[in-house]
Amino acid sequence: MINKSENDFRKICDISELQNGRGKRFIVDDKEVAVFKIDDELFALYNVCPHQHFNFIYDGIIEKDCVICPIHGWRFELETGKNPDGRKGLERYPVKVIDDTVCIKVSNTKRPW
Ligand code: FES
Repeated sequence: MINKSENDFRKICDISELQNGRGKRFIVDDKEVAVFKIDDELFALYNVCPHQHFNFIYDGIIEKDCVICPIHGWRFELETGKNPDGRKGLERYPVKVIDDTVCIKVSNTKRPW
């Protein structure tokens, strides 16, 4: 169950539900979101690959600062969603933790690149 939170952030899960080094899929305001926990950092990206529109970004392998789409291997920077190979990238979303609850803001999000 996703609840409203302050400033359009939506509560999506408890921080303990995220595995380190892995992604998890959520639907937030009808939008597919992939959330990754890498050590103490959280990243939230659009979960649908711009290549052939499969919704498996959450299941990608983490390599250096990128997640690799498990379908054909396009790479996306976790921090920005940018494709370092010059292809189309992913939206990225602000994510924060409030009292051990992970919150994401998906409204009015623009690509930063
Ligand atoms: S669908 Fe992601 S690389 Fe092809």
